[in-house]
Amino acid sequence: MPLFLMTILWILFFLTLAAWVMTTIVQIFNFWFSLDKRRCFYVPSKDKGLIGIFKEEVSADKRYFYDLGSGDGRILRLAKKDFPDLETVGYELNPILSSYSRILNRISKIDIQILRSDFLEANLQNNSIIYIFLRPQLLLELKNSFSALKNSVIVSHGFPIPYLENKLTKKVYGEPFHTYIYRL
Ligand SMILES: C[S@@+](CC[C@H](N)C(=O)[O-])C[C@H]1O[C@@H](n2cnc3c(N)ncnc32)[C@H](O)[C@@H]1O
Repeated sequence: MPLFLMTILWILFFLTLAAWVMTTIVQIFNFWFSLDKRRCFYVPSKDKGLIGIFKEEVSADKRYFYDLGSGDGRILRLAKKDFPDLETVGYELNPILSSYSRILNRISKIDIQILRSDFLEANLQNNSIIYIFLRPQLLLELKNSFSALKNSVIVSHGFPIPYLENKLTKKVYGEPFHTYIYRL
């Protein structure tokens, strides 16, 4: 085999190995990070068609769009494209994910605020659309934050919110997760 081809093959091999090592390190870190009882493991929403589910809930009086536990920020970027007038904010404690989503936002030239802080301590504003994809225990811990909110919509992907049962306006069946929409 010519030396040139051998060199290319070795470079490709080392690049693949480096990518694999990086991915594994990130996954181990994400797993370790999620072991804290206040957090949960990072599972991204399957973004296809998700915004369409709650598009009609975004009336002219809405001012903010939040993703509590925003991961790599994919839902925020979709929301900002569809609702450019809303102030778009993500809370993400995981430093790798929050940095990664800031980089993706910069590349996409999209104006989104990513806060590396705990959403349980967030001061959520009224007139908001709030997207969440969180495990049930965290939904319970958000009860106080949600009870103070007015004229807002909560979109819970994956799990219903038991204490908001009487505010449920729509349940959208999906695979693998359903989505629950509450109007406050
Ligand atoms: C299931 S993922 C959802 C990611 C994103 N919202 C999506 O739908 O693609 C939940 C995210 O919430 C973050 N998270 C969990 N608890 C948090 C907390 N108390 N404050 C901020 N982020 C948190 C986790 O690090 C994780 O990235």
